[in-house]
Amino acid sequence: MLLNIQDYRRQAQRRLPRFVFDYIDGGAEDERCLQRNGSDLAAIHLLPTCLRDTHAIDTSTEVFGRRWQAPFAVAPIGLCGLVRPGGDMMMAQAAAAAGVPFILSTASNTRLEDLRQTSAPWLQWMQVYVMSERSIAEQIVRRAKAAKFGALVLTVDVPVSGARERDWRNHFKLPFRPTPAIALDLLRHPGWLWRVLRQGAPSFVNMSEENTAGSAEVQAALLAREMDRRLDWDSLRWLRGLWDGPLLLKGLLHPADARRAVAHGVDGVIVSNHGGRQLDVAPSSIAALPGIVDAVAGRLPIFVDGGFRRGSDVVKALALGAKGVLLGRPPVYGLASNGQQGTAAVLGLLREELERSMTLLGTACISDIGRHHLMNDSHPS
Ligand SMILES: Cc1cc2nc3c(=O)[nH]c(=O)nc-3n(C[C@H](O)[C@H](O)[C@H](O)COP(=O)(O)O)c2cc1C
Repeated sequence: MLLNIQDYRRQAQRRLPRFVFDYIDGGAEDERCLQRNGSDLAAIHLLPTCLRDTHAIDTSTEVFGRRWQAPFAVAPIGLCGLVRPGGDMMMAQAAAAAGVPFILSTASNTRLEDLRQTSAPWLQWMQVYVMSERSIAEQIVRRAKAAKFGALVLTVDVPVSGARERDWRNHFKLPFRPTPAIALDLLRHPGWLWRVLRQGAPSFVNMSEENTAGSAEVQAALLAREMDRRLDWDSLRWLRGLWDGPLLLKGLLHPADARRAVAHGVDGVIVSNHGGRQLDVAPSSIAALPGIVDAVAGRLPIFVDGGFRRGSDVVKALALGAKGVLLGRPPVYGLASNGQQGTAAVLGLLREELERSMTLLGTACISDIGRHHLMNDSHPS
């Protein structure tokens, strides 16, 4: 029975070859940051209020002038096509049906123009990684603008890849050469293997304007997350020259960086430690959130991701001042379990949990949620 996100996680583990599951599920080094994302959220307690009219719960919220049906969006996930061929499209359609945005990764396996045809522009955002060959990011941003994506998300927490030891142990790198252990594991997952054999192994199709996957070196560098380490605050001017829509920075944890983001005229920030996949000694996102809320002082919408597995977790972020939450692994666990329907089920489940939590808290709408719902001694700031 799939009752909660942990059930979907276990289902994904059963359905996927180990190297694929580990790629999704894993974190960096000792995976302490990954654990902290969950345990710091669990340590926060919410104080319910009673005798409030909650007969009609409204989970919708307004972001950049548009109404999201719930205060969450699907985070950018690279290499979804490895989980399911066509995975980006399936997740985007599930998100659109739920009335929440989907963020397409630079490392996706679906041409951004193809994805754009599936739903309204404001429901689709484009994430950009800046690799040493800056022309790759430039053409992505130009195409995203031409295709009318609703917002651009610059990920700033990957100057190099975190030490993903699970991937190293599984020899998961390009060019991919299955070890005998991996070959055996693939045979144990005939459903996954059949789909990949029938529909083809995924490739990074957004690396060039002409529908090509880019050179083998570029592909390997993207999988190894070799980025432009010269990227700095001044580089935002270069990006602004290419993109005039909403621009968000994803991967901030330091309040000083949030102040800089305001000064540089970005339109939103995403507090994130990349799901515990980068700096293992970084704080949990939920612990970093209050410092950023104070630094930004209402001048920008703040989003947060990392470890959100219950509707009540989403309420905690909102109570601490976030506008919304990004969901990383949960929609992918759904995708692995049952394709588009699986992701749709995960988004539906979290929305139901959110509604129930709001009812129990005595909050009929999102704007009713606030700091007064936090137990003073339980939030981790
Ligand atoms: C398998 C996987 C691939 C990811 N790929 C990207 C990516 O391409 N770009 C990006 O900005 N973040 C990427 N992330 C980070 C997510 O966008 C998000 O920050 C993180 O997963 C949130 O934590 P959660 O998984 O606990 O919800 C990836 C995360 C995972 C698990």
